[in-house]
Amino acid sequence: MGLWKLVRGVRQLELHRLILVLIVFCLLSMAFLAYFVSNSPKIKEAPPMPFSDCGGVVAAAAGGQRAPLFLPPFTVRQRTVKAVDNSRTEPVVLVFVESIYSQLGQEIVAILESSRFRYHTEIAPSKGDMPTLMERDIARYALVIYENILKYVNLDAWNRDLLDKYCAEFGVGIIGFFKANENSLLSAQLKGFPLFLHSNLGLRDYHINPAAPLLYITKPNEVEQGPLPGDDWTVFQSNHSTYEPVLLALTKSSEALAHLGPHRALHATVVQDLGLHDGIQRVLFGNNISFWLHKLIFVDAIAYLTGKRLCLSLERHLLVDVDDIFVGKEGTRMKVTDVKALLSTQNKLQTLVPNFTFNLGFSGKFYHAGTEEEDEGDDMLLQHRHEFWWFPHMWSHMQPHLFHNVSVLAEQMRLNMQFAQEHGIPTDMGYAVAPHHSGVYPVHSQLYEAWKSVWGITVTSTEEYPHLRPARHRRGFIHRGIKVKHCHFTVKLDNLIQKNMKESNPCHDKRHKDIWSKEKTCDRLPKFLVIGPQKTGTSALHSFLTLHPAITSNFPSPVTFEEIQFFNGPNYHDGIDWYMDFFPFPSNVSTDFMFEKSANYFDTEVVPKRAAALLPRAKILALLINPVDRAYSWYQHQRAHQDPVAINHTFHEVVTAGPSASKELLTLQNRSLKPGTYATHLEHWLVHYQARQLHIVDGTLLRSNPALVMDGIQQFLGVTPIFNYTQALVFDEGKGFWCQRLEGGRPKCLGKSKGRKYPEMAPETRAFLTEYYREHNLELLRLLNLLGQALPTWLREELQSTSWS
Ligand code: A3P
Repeated sequence: MGLWKLVRGVRQLELHRLILVLIVFCLLSMAFLAYFVSNSPKIKEAPPMPFSDCGGVVAAAAGGQRAPLFLPPFTVRQRTVKAVDNSRTEPVVLVFVESIYSQLGQEIVAILESSRFRYHTEIAPSKGDMPTLMERDIARYALVIYENILKYVNLDAWNRDLLDKYCAEFGVGIIGFFKANENSLLSAQLKGFPLFLHSNLGLRDYHINPAAPLLYITKPNEVEQGPLPGDDWTVFQSNHSTYEPVLLALTKSSEALAHLGPHRALHATVVQDLGLHDGIQRVLFGNNISFWLHKLIFVDAIAYLTGKRLCLSLERHLLVDVDDIFVGKEGTRMKVTDVKALLSTQNKLQTLVPNFTFNLGFSGKFYHAGTEEEDEGDDMLLQHRHEFWWFPHMWSHMQPHLFHNVSVLAEQMRLNMQFAQEHGIPTDMGYAVAPHHSGVYPVHSQLYEAWKSVWGITVTSTEEYPHLRPARHRRGFIHRGIKVKHCHFTVKLDNLIQKNMKESNPCHDKRHKDIWSKEKTCDRLPKFLVIGPQKTGTSALHSFLTLHPAITSNFPSPVTFEEIQFFNGPNYHDGIDWYMDFFPFPSNVSTDFMFEKSANYFDTEVVPKRAAALLPRAKILALLINPVDRAYSWYQHQRAHQDPVAINHTFHEVVTAGPSASKELLTLQNRSLKPGTYATHLEHWLVHYQARQLHIVDGTLLRSNPALVMDGIQQFLGVTPIFNYTQALVFDEGKGFWCQRLEGGRPKCLGKSKGRKYPEMAPETRAFLTEYYREHNLELLRLLNLLGQALPTWLREELQSTSWS
């Protein structure tokens, strides 16, 4: 019994001890843990990595350990950041500018344009409405930029909430600029953020923080020594772990900022907000974008925040052309010392750019045409010819647009080729440059022809397309199989070439006019276009117009008869020379009216843009009849041309065919119905032409009372003298249409294919189509009212008919 008690006592004691030991162990481990948590360096959780990469290279430093350049962070509850979701946002930047004239706003836009990034600008609202951010389920913008970040932080609560929710939901980042002015507070907190701004500072020695996740094009580890321009820099200070400095600098004067503490030598002028504070990633600049490094960081910030959707590739192609080799007056030409300098520069550049080689453009005619010293320079160039690349300029440095005869031009090229062969210069480079880029754009077709036949080139260059200025708008194009690149530092050649060149009017740009053949004149272009659509009476209108003594149509095309069909299809690539050859030289530029009619211009979407580029001042005539009748006329036209689908199907079958019908049937249906959705097509034209340039011709009235319609057209065109169509036209009972009255009163009518005889449309098909076009016609009504154009008779009748009520 006593023994048992003793054993029990010992056991109880052990249990107490055990519990005590356990408690002590727990306390010790908590203390241990607390010690380590508070003392070990914090590794910030990196925001989600952008998952696509424009250059195929993973973003530098993202997610890696960072050097402790900023103040040590204190522990806060960290927000997670939504990954950029490409499928939910359009790759478009929304830019809030201060005004349409603001300097920084324009610089931001210039960078977006040169980078070929899509953007939309809005004047930053101080109050009032945000622009629409959503389109159906898709977020319209992948990035928001504020020219003045204060406009963002001071947004009213409603709009701020709206924008922040949008950014957080779709992983959309914000870039903002803070540019101090004389009224800025020297130190202030950015409203609502754990971030302090210290303004109006002079700085020096710019450092790039190699740990900043956004770095991509910008190379880390570089220091821009010396003072930074201006004394109006703003630096950011924070002890929140969400802020990572991107660029840091010292203050110009040696003393540190008092409020940043004596240990702080470097101050952040650009910071990256990793989104750990409120789930939104931002990049903030403590100045504008003028400093060169800011431009790089800005482009990198765009790439980072858009998950590399708007991104400049790291791949660069560099070509330095040195034109005019052997060209120049005595005393201005290259001597031996110059050639040596060229070679040593090339060697130096080769240490930075592997295989870098200068590309020398030669005009052989002037070889050895300098002083003795200069001739030695020529010889030295040739001695070292294998160290350079070569391309032909023009034999005598004449501008190609001055040659009208292809064979004379080709002969000049051959002389240069002969020179190259005699002197061991390679001739298979596939590249040539015209003196002053003449003949390249505006296109001088003789040049392209001669280049192809003599040199077989595939690439040339110009800085003129579409215009010299602004440089960022320059593009390349392809003409007759020759790629025309633009002179600029380029990324991949093919990326910068638009397959479809847009012809502009050479006479609207002085530089273009200067390098355009004197034998060519912009007066050989139409003053107005009859754009269709097909089967509305366009041939009748064409024939009536040509009766006017001051109106001239184009020469007929051997392929498309009276129509040129330039702007809508492959003919466009034959260029402006080809187009102008269809028009005579006008005898009186101001009173002569040339025009062309191509009826499928109306509903071909590329046409308005192309036409407006070449003929921005042209007037446009569109002829509209009831789209139901137009569709039927088209069907009958196809039957008359033995189209098997039209022959084997009734009109009703064609227009009512469902999506499971054969491809051929659906094509015929589309061609019957689509041109008749008039408002949609007219709207495309109105994007590129002003409303006052457009005249809607009532096709039904043209058929019943052409003289009246022609009077209206003459007035719209401003053509003189006013021609008397009542006398010039006569109604032909047999044909059932108005025709030209020949001498003696005899009628001259259009051919059999115009005004065909065919059965009436079945009433149920008419009813079906009336319903089909109801909304489209209402849209047309709204549009014509908006434009202040008279309603065509058929539209008024349709509106009055009971089926519309
Ligand atoms: P139909 O042949 O179906 O009757 P387009 O010239 O644009 O192809 O249009 C042809 C249509 O012009 C003809 O269609 C016809 O109805 C109409 N038209 C209007 N005025 C005409 C006229 N004076 N002579 C012949 N056809 C005319």
